[in-house]
Amino acid sequence: MTKPFFLVANWKMHFTPSEAASLYREFGSFLSEENPVHLWVSAPAISLPALGEAANPKIPFGSQNVHFEDSGAFTGEISVPMVKSVGGTFTLVGHSERRTLFHEEDDLLTKRALGALHKGLKVVFCVGETLEEREGGKTEAVLKEQLQTVIPLFQEFPNALVVAYEPVWAIGTGKVASEEEIQSAHSAIKTVMKSSSETPLPVLYGGSVKPENIQGIAALPDVNGALVGGASLKKESFQALYEKAAASL
Ligand code: PGA
Repeated sequence: MTKPFFLVANWKMHFTPSEAASLYREFGSFLSEENPVHLWVSAPAISLPALGEAANPKIPFGSQNVHFEDSGAFTGEISVPMVKSVGGTFTLVGHSERRTLFHEEDDLLTKRALGALHKGLKVVFCVGETLEEREGGKTEAVLKEQLQTVIPLFQEFPNALVVAYEPVWAIGTGKVASEEEIQSAHSAIKTVMKSSSETPLPVLYGGSVKPENIQGIAALPDVNGALVGGASLKKESFQALYEKAAASL
């Protein structure tokens, strides 16, 4: 194997705690010693204790968002100590659904990521352009701007940060970015980040990844994994991603 490869399931707002624990156990059932792909699961907050009870050290799990304060008057939020107390080890920050549907902006996202990293969670920080930005030729400029937040974090926590490139127009739409578009965005992200640390930064692709397209994506030189929504909701499709990704590394 030439590069580390992660498949991060993003369960979004799906499953009750018992359904989540049962799918998580099913993921554990197809792991194989020979397969080098790392599986992570990002679950709704209410299911984290159930995953903690089902915990499999080979499948780290985490939250989909996190607040930067340990506790306080922040209705609807969860804190890093809460996530860690049930065994969660990472969080997503800045998913495009948080940015677009819930209007979370760069300042807030920086605080969330910084709080999580300082208190000991790994962070999968999501970036990506809208269709309008892509069509206006602004993809690289938008990525660069979104990454400004991440550069000091990467300098301080080079081993705890993962970036996910998720073109907003490809998420949950069935439209997948072309392999050229993915490779060129990933390479741009790595170039921006390289100036801040010698540590290689894992960059994942997200947006309509499925068993039919994973092999081409996994084989791209600057792709270190995938953040997967729809195809992570069933054992069969996630297992197919796990096996097919390994075959093309
Ligand atoms: P999708 O979601 O695989 O359903 O497009 C990806 C994501 O939003 O992380």
